Amino acid sequence: MADQVPTLGQAAPRQRTADGELRRRAAAVIPGGMYGHQSAVALPAEFPQFMREGRGARVWDVDGNCYVDLMCSYGPVVLGHRHPGVERAAQAQAALADCQNGPGAVMVELAELLVATVRHADWAMFAKNGTDATTMCCTIARAQTGRSKILVARGAYHGALPWCTPRPAGTTPADRANLGYYTFNDLDSARSAAAEAGDELAGIMVSPFRHDAGFDQELVDPAFARGLRELCDQAGAALILDDVRCGFRLHLGGSWEPIGVDPDLSAWSKAIANGHPLAAALGNGRFADGAASVFVTGSFWFAAVPMAAAVATIRALRDEDAVAAMERAGTALRDGILGQAAAHGLEVNYTGPVQMPYLTFAGDSGHELASVFAAEAVRRGAYVHPRHNWFVSAAMTGDDLDLVLAATDQAFAAVGRRLGH
Ligand SMILES: Cc1ncc(COP(=O)(O)O)c(C=O)c1O
Repeated sequence: MADQVPTLGQAAPRQRTADGELRRRAAAVIPGGMYGHQSAVALPAEFPQFMREGRGARVWDVDGNCYVDLMCSYGPVVLGHRHPGVERAAQAQAALADCQNGPGAVMVELAELLVATVRHADWAMFAKNGTDATTMCCTIARAQTGRSKILVARGAYHGALPWCTPRPAGTTPADRANLGYYTFNDLDSARSAAAEAGDELAGIMVSPFRHDAGFDQELVDPAFARGLRELCDQAGAALILDDVRCGFRLHLGGSWEPIGVDPDLSAWSKAIANGHPLAAALGNGRFADGAASVFVTGSFWFAAVPMAAAVATIRALRDEDAVAAMERAGTALRDGILGQAAAHGLEVNYTGPVQMPYLTFAGDSGHELASVFAAEAVRRGAYVHPRHNWFVSAAMTGDDLDLVLAATDQAFAAVGRRLGH
């Protein structure tokens, strides 16, 4: 079947035959037909569930429909799909071995590179997923301090294990018994939660900015970040930065380096190997003994291919000045979208860093208008999400951007029609 490449402003006739057939088969053998954050079940019907391939800033679904990708696999793809340098490095390592009796030499090379790249880091440990990394940071904080309580921001996402999953099904109150809660950017609430934890405060986990799914995003107040640092220093607790979603998108280093606040521990995954499965916990010397004392591991955690991909990714991020490229593309996207919204007479909030923006419509708390917008954008070849922040990759070209803006212009028109404009 011929691929459906979107053209400027036109809604390509979108095939859904293969996707529909796969959904039907999946419903019989996969619980819910699909699960987790990539389930298209709750998305508008225009969204495909099953994908076929990606190249640069474009992705194709199993029916051959092409999209400019503004979700980047929900964050892991930062340099664009199948970045040649990253894939060459991965293939060279794969030609030798991936999963062995011990890690490859590349593990040491990658740890050295991360320690040289991320200011607060003196050491690195590796795993597979972001949840592995956030959980490992909690375990290390507890091991180092001998205390139990970790504070997290209300509504923040740190992964999908029982201690942090946003859906309580299958979990017990005991899974969260050692958590305390504060409100992001509200230092007084963090102080109260720390006081309540008292002598048991092991750490405070925080994301670089507030990016809770479905809500307008909120940049961090530097005074709040400094306040958390002081709170942890006074209590002898760990400041843990969850850089899983933002890491290497905002800064080639830790995401709070530009505001001058260094965490003790940080959790990474998503973008560090440009789509290859890898996570990392990084830490400073004060937490090295705790890190060495815990038993954390996994059958696939030491696989060499993702580590080789990570080394190539971090070098390419630096050599290609990728953060600046994402900022440029993200700024053009923001300016284009805000101009279109105004021209259509629509009141929107476009929040977060330009590399990780999120669009909501005034008064649209049920995401109805956001769904109309996203459905029309997807129909016209711009893959955006109605309830999750988007991701701009460094591979976005001017043509990609033109195509996205042609699609979003029509998507705003569809929202206007829904509102009876
Ligand atoms: C901030 C943050 N922390 C942790 C995680 C969990 O990562 P993973 O899904 O790779 O386990 C995510 C995933 O979206 C995330 O955004």
